[in-house]
Amino acid sequence: MNILHRPRRLRQSPSFRDISSETHLHPSQFILPVFVCNGKGVKKENPSLPSALSLSIDELIPFVEKAYEKGIRSTLLFGIAEKRDSKATEALQPGCAVVKAIEAIRKHIPDMIVTTDIALDPYTDHGHDGLFVDGKVPNDDTVSILADMSVLHAEAGAQVVAPSDMMDGRVSEIRHRLDQKGLTDTAILSYTAKYASAFYGPFRDSLGGELVGDKKSYQMNPLNRREALRELELDLDEGADIVMVKPAGHYLDVLSDVKARSLVPVAAYHVSGEAALIELGAKHGLFERDQALLEVTSSIARAGADLIATYFALELCDLIRQRS
Ligand code: PBG
Repeated sequence: MNILHRPRRLRQSPSFRDISSETHLHPSQFILPVFVCNGKGVKKENPSLPSALSLSIDELIPFVEKAYEKGIRSTLLFGIAEKRDSKATEALQPGCAVVKAIEAIRKHIPDMIVTTDIALDPYTDHGHDGLFVDGKVPNDDTVSILADMSVLHAEAGAQVVAPSDMMDGRVSEIRHRLDQKGLTDTAILSYTAKYASAFYGPFRDSLGGELVGDKKSYQMNPLNRREALRELELDLDEGADIVMVKPAGHYLDVLSDVKARSLVPVAAYHVSGEAALIELGAKHGLFERDQALLEVTSSIARAGADLIATYFALELCDLIRQRS
């Protein structure tokens, strides 16, 4: 046979595959989500997703130290409330678990970037990301609380705040309020294109509580692709430092679009339900776990994610050190 082009030449051995690889995963790309709670000695795995951990501060520090040693440079903190109410009172309390966690990480692992999730759902009894009045989530009043929450976290030492609520105009209001307090170095990682997805189930189990209704009046419609670019334009105008697409694995088209139009780093969140699918499939022997994990994560990077929030961050650091 006389063929000129033989793409298989570059696939013939691990070394050839390495030198021709277009995508490389690196530990500093991973953002590690952690749930933090009050108490002592708490280290609770999510039943459907063991790598989603709820930790008290004393357990959090050694865990984050381990992550830092593996090369991870950013954590993403979610608070678990002691007491939920309709106004998310605990979200603004200086003594809440997240504030303590921020202070502890900054003190013990000063080089680790602490990013905090900014939304009210861990703290509200109705489970919405904002206030909930007459069956609706009011935009502007919610934004005002989110800006207070951002200032609280930034003053405690968080270097990045990550609004995940999808209210309109929250990035500019948060930026404005941070700057007013002189917190000009605090960065904003905006959940820019966050969809009303079915895949947040295990996450909501970790937080506990019940959601009244759904989040479709503020999170994006999964049927929409171009609308993500509108959200992107707004967030960039409002001063977002990093933009995020969420979920990641089922929204690779959106991720690729956002990457093409963004001059700031693009993050993607491989969310709890997507991660749980891998656990379940592997448990049932449908595929090999490590290979699936690497493939899905690499696909998210290939589609355009500079940063990937993933519950598998620690494991992935070990996996990418071994050559496939
Ligand atoms: C809440 C928030 C959610 C997630 C991150 N921040 C859930 C939601 O919007 O209901 C989901 C993350 C995951 O599923 O891993 N604002």
